[in-house]
Amino acid sequence: MQSKILVLVSWMTLVAGDVPVTFSVVWASAEKGSFCVPVARDLHGWRIHLMSSDSITRLDITEASVVTTLNNGREFILENKSWNADEHVGDTICVDFLANTDHRLGVLTGHAYLEGFKRDHSTHLPLTDTVSLSSTPATVRSTHGAANTSGTAGKYDYKEVLGLSILFYDAQRSGKLPANNHVSWRADSSLTDKGDNGEDLTGGWYDAGDMIKFNLPMASATTILSWGFLKWSDAYKTAGQEDHMYDMIKWPLDYFLKCWNPVKKEYYVQVGESSLDSTFWGRPEDLPANLKVFKVTASKPGSDVAGITAAALAAGSVLYQTKDASYGARLLSAAESLYAFATTYRGIYSVSVPAAASAYASTGYNDELCVAAVWLYKATRDKKYLEDAKTYHSSASPWAYSWDDTTVGCQLMLYDMTRDVTYRTEVQRFLTSWKPGGSLPYTPCGMAFRSKWGSLRYDANVAFIALMAAEDGIDQVENRQWALSQLNYILGDNKQHLSFVVGFGSKYPLQPRHGASSCPDQPATCDWSNFHSPGPNPHVLKGALVGGPDGTDTYSDKRSDYVGNEVAVDYNAGFQSTIAGLVHLSTTRWSTCQSYSQVLDFLLKPLM
Ligand SMILES: *[C@@H]1O[C@H](CO)[C@@H](O)[C@H](O)[C@H]1NC(C)=O
Ligand SMILES: *[C@@H]1O[C@H](CO)[C@@H](O)[C@H](O)[C@H]1NC(C)=O
Repeated sequence: MQSKILVLVSWMTLVAGDVPVTFSVVWASAEKGSFCVPVARDLHGWRIHLMSSDSITRLDITEASVVTTLNNGREFILENKSWNADEHVGDTICVDFLANTDHRLGVLTGHAYLEGFKRDHSTHLPLTDTVSLSSTPATVRSTHGAANTSGTAGKYDYKEVLGLSILFYDAQRSGKLPANNHVSWRADSSLTDKGDNGEDLTGGWYDAGDMIKFNLPMASATTILSWGFLKWSDAYKTAGQEDHMYDMIKWPLDYFLKCWNPVKKEYYVQVGESSLDSTFWGRPEDLPANLKVFKVTASKPGSDVAGITAAALAAGSVLYQTKDASYGARLLSAAESLYAFATTYRGIYSVSVPAAASAYASTGYNDELCVAAVWLYKATRDKKYLEDAKTYHSSASPWAYSWDDTTVGCQLMLYDMTRDVTYRTEVQRFLTSWKPGGSLPYTPCGMAFRSKWGSLRYDANVAFIALMAAEDGIDQVENRQWALSQLNYILGDNKQHLSFVVGFGSKYPLQPRHGASSCPDQPATCDWSNFHSPGPNPHVLKGALVGGPDGTDTYSDKRSDYVGNEVAVDYNAGFQSTIAGLVHLSTTRWSTCQSYSQVLDFLLKPLM
């Protein structure tokens, strides 16, 4: 009896040191929180008190169990799980959780402390057995991007990320590199790429960690990047990246112009075959010459690949309209003839070109034709294109927004151009299905999880749609909050406290699956032994977003993992455009914020 009381007393009094809890808003009624407490003596079982400034209805935690809720949800006692009961001097216990409530949360603040807990289950600690834990001030570094009020605001340096992401596309360049090549470890490559009649097919981007040129994902990425660049050009300016971005986006546009022959009605859609993946590991500079090329024609059509390329060219023409009018006109003319080809000769390209099917099997083309038509309408203001777009439009709520399915992109652009509420409702339905409470599972740390194959790319693509929809006044606050939470997850608000963007932050993937960066400098040989090497890639593939974690936030930094650790031109596109949106928001609104509450104000109130 006496000892029980002693234990109770010790629980209440052995307060050794507070650590701050960091919160970030996930959506209006939930915040993510995390803290780490240092362990100053060996423990076989532990309890932590978590204190919050507002009442929390439910805590979702994986690293601990909630054993007691006190003070109307303002204090929780957490206990170890069986698998993390043993902690040693010098360890740190880190806990991530989701705090849910049934009302709109204000900005949460909080702190946590480790109880002086019993050493084992037979001996209770005497009160004197406490060791003071190294204590950090209980000031709370709160929330969702508010921490850095130094002028750029935002939790992460989104401007830096923007520049890095452009560098990733520079590393993917094929062909003769320009004098201002930004990636020192890349050189000219694939100079023998040519069509069946000797057409010059040099240039473009390598698709991923391998070195095939696939026009479908290349054009999809170019369209999404151009869309973001057009909408948030101020972000690129502020980040000092405007010229760099114009250079970058011209690379694939130039390539598309080479691939399309409007007289012969032939469009080259692929250079290299997937079988190359299993036979060749190395740098693009060492690729075998005269790779196989594939095209779509009137008799072997590809409305999807031709459609999305027409969209990319039309978006590019809008970008270049004033900067370089004659180049803009060339892009527009190619977009129009390619669109006519895509709509006249209907077919799925991966059926016409079976070599594409193992990597990028397309499931349809109406969505690409819709996007092409709507971009052509934007570029020409010719109503014929708008009417076309409406006929290709689908009201479906798609599985994702991706290289294969651009349905929701078209719905959103149609809303933007027509303000017809039908389209708005479709976009809302799609985004609602992705936000908490919708139809997608979330990882314990808060990522909307669609598929383990490039999980972050799906997430970032939808974050892009959310930010873009917010620009059109669609659920502005909620969409911005949600997009921000997903991007912050990618940049470090996750279980590993890891940035999934190579070269960003202090901890990031070291072994992205990527041939060129896995090789030492020329002329050293590079082959499968470099693939199997246990060390980091010799070159830092700056700005690349890797595939990402599985549904339990688990991720391993292994070159052999093509599901979670590959990179691709498609992965970075929605991601980069979302980052541009965040730079735009942070420089137009956050830079004037002096305090967290003002930042929160920004997040909770629509822009005027
Ligand atoms: C915490 O650890 C102790 C000691 O291993 C164990 O007996 C107890 O069941 C654990 N608590 C929970 C909730 O699993
Ligand atoms: C805030 O951001 C600026 C610019 O990105 C950076 O230089 C500075 O170190 C950051 N400050 C803190 C406290 O993170």
